[in-house]
Amino acid sequence: APVMCIVGARPNFMKMAPILRALAHHQPPIPALLVHTGQHYDTDMSKKLFVDLGLPTPDINLEVGSGSHAVQTAEVMKRFEPALDEHKPSCVLVVGDVNSTLACTLVAVKKDIPVAHVEAGLRSYDRKMPEEINRLLTDQVADRLYTTERSALANLVREGIAEERVVFAGNVMIDSLEASRPHARTPADTLASHQLDPALIKHPKGYGVVTLHRPSNVDDAETLRSLLTVLDTVSKDLPLVFAMHPRTRSNIERFGLKDMLDPSRVAVLPPQGYLEMLGLMGGATLVLTDSGGLQEETTALGVPCLTLRENTERPITVEQGTNTMVGLDREAILRGVAEILAGQGKRGRVPEYWDGHTAERIAADLYQWLGA
Ligand code: UD1
Repeated sequence: APVMCIVGARPNFMKMAPILRALAHHQPPIPALLVHTGQHYDTDMSKKLFVDLGLPTPDINLEVGSGSHAVQTAEVMKRFEPALDEHKPSCVLVVGDVNSTLACTLVAVKKDIPVAHVEAGLRSYDRKMPEEINRLLTDQVADRLYTTERSALANLVREGIAEERVVFAGNVMIDSLEASRPHARTPADTLASHQLDPALIKHPKGYGVVTLHRPSNVDDAETLRSLLTVLDTVSKDLPLVFAMHPRTRSNIERFGLKDMLDPSRVAVLPPQGYLEMLGLMGGATLVLTDSGGLQEETTALGVPCLTLRENTERPITVEQGTNTMVGLDREAILRGVAEILAGQGKRGRVPEYWDGHTAERIAADLYQWLGA
């Protein structure tokens, strides 16, 4: 019986691509079916990433689309159940912390189908974050938990999860990063393909990359306004490339903040493909973000990252990597930028098992575990 592999939203795709390859290359091969819940559906958010990452066309697309958390989660559950009944998988493999991760986990465990969770045990300890709820609940009921950093085991044990269920496998995102690095697109090409002048990023200090999409940062008008004010200030010293999530774009329009960023200093782009993003980050002087994935990718690339959040579920990126939590405080952000521009940014080192071979370790363990 196949392993049913679930993806729903952008950050899932880079995690699943190397896992599918490792399942296929395992000796003997482990059969797999790819399910896309359709949580992310735009070409920018989904289709282009599939191509960039070499993900196969999904075997099953549940096409759930957007909705409130309840509607989206419920819709995935309703549509996933018949697919599960039809294919009777040996196991359901979920990654990350999006609504699709939790929804498919709940459906599977109640049907007594084992669930493996990749990127288990990360905790921000901030339950206002929807992903934190997804992480907590998924880990509580999943059967096999693959972790990216050693702190995750302590988090899981604290929640009463048996240590035998947990395997430290490393960071599968870095498998994708290593595989794609040679194919990264140059930042100048990326700008030019959006009719933007590449001269904008040919600044003596280089350029910064910005992404913002967390509801806590972009759904409130005053918070978003003050973040845009800081970005405008930063852009006077360092040109910025802002790859804008659809949620952020629509809020900027809705709140009437469109004119706050000067196009001669801030290049606003739609959500980027994987190879574009890799090129942009790799060439950047710094990254300003509220993303989970970018905190890890910048650590792997050795590029200083300032995270616009109060907490992180990925502490190793701060302890060993290039990440600094600056929160939303204007002075803290500007100080962080100034330090990096003065050449005092963190250099960091690449954490244990972020070596490009995590998916192989997961496939090997999965084979043993399912056979047992
Ligand atoms: C989701 C994940 C988050 C992840 C992020 C990356 C959850 C709880 N959150 O948040 O962990 O970091 O994806 O992008 O699962 N939209 C589009 N096109 C799309 C997808 C969404 O325009 O292809 C719009 C939706 O209409 C909605 C907004 O973007 O207004 C948010 O989409 P949603 O999938 O609900 O959550 P994200 O904020 O993307």
